Amino acid sequence: MENKEIELEFSIKSGAPEKQRTACVVVGVFESRKLSAPAIDIDRASDGYLSDILRGGDMEGKAGSTLLLHKVPNILADRILLVGLGKEREFHEKAYCDAIASAVKTLRDTGSMEAAITLSEIPVRKRDVTWNVEQAVISAHAALYRFDHLKSKPNETRRPLKRVIFAVSRRGELKYGEVGLAHGLAIARGIGLAKDLGNTPSNICTPEYLAGQAQKLAKAYGFRSEILDYAACDKLGMGSFLSVGKGSDKPPRFIVLKHEGGAKGEKPVVLVGKAVTFDAGGISLKPPAEMDEMNYDMSGGGAVIGTFRAIGELGLPLNVVGLIPACENMPDANANKPGDIVTSMSGQTIEILNTDAEGRLILCDALTYAERFAPEAVIDLATLTGACVIALGAHPSALYSNHDPLAREIEHAADHAWDRVWRMPLWDDYQEQLKSSLADMANIGGRPAGSITAACFLSRFAKKYHWAHLDIAGTAYQGGREKGSTGRPVSLLVHFLLNRAQK
Ligand code: BES
Ligand code: MN
Ligand code: ZN
Repeated sequence: MENKEIELEFSIKSGAPEKQRTACVVVGVFESRKLSAPAIDIDRASDGYLSDILRGGDMEGKAGSTLLLHKVPNILADRILLVGLGKEREFHEKAYCDAIASAVKTLRDTGSMEAAITLSEIPVRKRDVTWNVEQAVISAHAALYRFDHLKSKPNETRRPLKRVIFAVSRRGELKYGEVGLAHGLAIARGIGLAKDLGNTPSNICTPEYLAGQAQKLAKAYGFRSEILDYAACDKLGMGSFLSVGKGSDKPPRFIVLKHEGGAKGEKPVVLVGKAVTFDAGGISLKPPAEMDEMNYDMSGGGAVIGTFRAIGELGLPLNVVGLIPACENMPDANANKPGDIVTSMSGQTIEILNTDAEGRLILCDALTYAERFAPEAVIDLATLTGACVIALGAHPSALYSNHDPLAREIEHAADHAWDRVWRMPLWDDYQEQLKSSLADMANIGGRPAGSITAACFLSRFAKKYHWAHLDIAGTAYQGGREKGSTGRPVSLLVHFLLNRAQK
């Protein structure tokens, strides 16, 4: 059983909104009752119909509010949907994306087959047409995302909306809009796949399942793929990675994906994603509260697979390698025990003081494996620490890097993708917290600066190349009743790769 994707068709258009022959034209209204430029066009053509309605008090323009109008005079569209944009001075990225989402959700619930959305014409400070269209596609796609195939009766699916046209204000902007459309669609599809993988519970989404999904993707887009099983990893000396899965009856898989879009011999970018399909903590068992969310502990790996989907859609002229160590962290007679010492593929030994600090144990061997590709850069993504959630919450991913230009490149891509990061220190001073009297290092650094000491641990395995680490524990999914994957940081990674491809 799979989550069936019902995709919207997107296109772009320029031209007068009053002349759009479509089921619904969506126009924005700022607070208080200030019409956006396309709304002014509709208002003029209809002899002040919108102004009358606003004056009557039906709509203030508050963010999130909507008002559907039928039979607006002199307008070719069947309906006009007014969407509140909030205060014009505060119309930044978030307000823009939220407005697109509320427009699309209202359209879904009101029976139009097709709609022309003019919100994409409204300028957002420091952003251009390409950005507006790309974010509109991503936000619209996200607003309609659902994951209900595991309910015995799926949510009601009366959804006539099939086509969405985003408006740009001038003909000359169409070509920039097209770029945004293509990028947005590829990213949206990548995010959709990452969400599906994240939302699939751990009794279904096992290491083998993830390997199967990667292979399916490889087949669809022509990637090379390689799946290493226990024996193959053992032969490579991945003693740290393999130790984590020992308490589980689900066998581990080390997934390798390769996109060879660049010149032969060109050094690849390597993306490494933590994929613990369920993190019970192992013998250092987690408390029950929120343990149900630990199926999302494979989100790093899911984001790598999602990014590969976007890479395939875009046919990026780059060499990219994806590495996904996948396993399950469970308590069992055979599981890692606190105090055990394992030997990593790098030869460095690790004293496992807490079996719940397993992410770094699987990533370190993947980072060593990455050396064989002589990478241009390595970026790993992991739901690595609860401490990261305490430090930064749900908005930025934590960024660490051993190379300032790489860090800046990622910061830039993150800002452009509106998939933000915040750089954290990786100072030598913190390394001392990882001291062990019996092995080369311990796998935990105590309570202070937990996200930083986890990154410091990884840095010891990433000395041979330019490397960055993203702690996505706070950004990859949302917990609680609105539980669900966000598909982050697929958008950031795709932008990073797009920028590299254009160099
Ligand atoms: N997967 C968790 C990190 C996590 C916690 C992600 C909460 C999302 C929400 C990771 O494997 C873990 O358990 N980390 C420990 C490390 C500690 C034992 C040093 C943590 O953060 O508590
Ligand atoms: Mn853990
Ligand atoms: Zn974990």
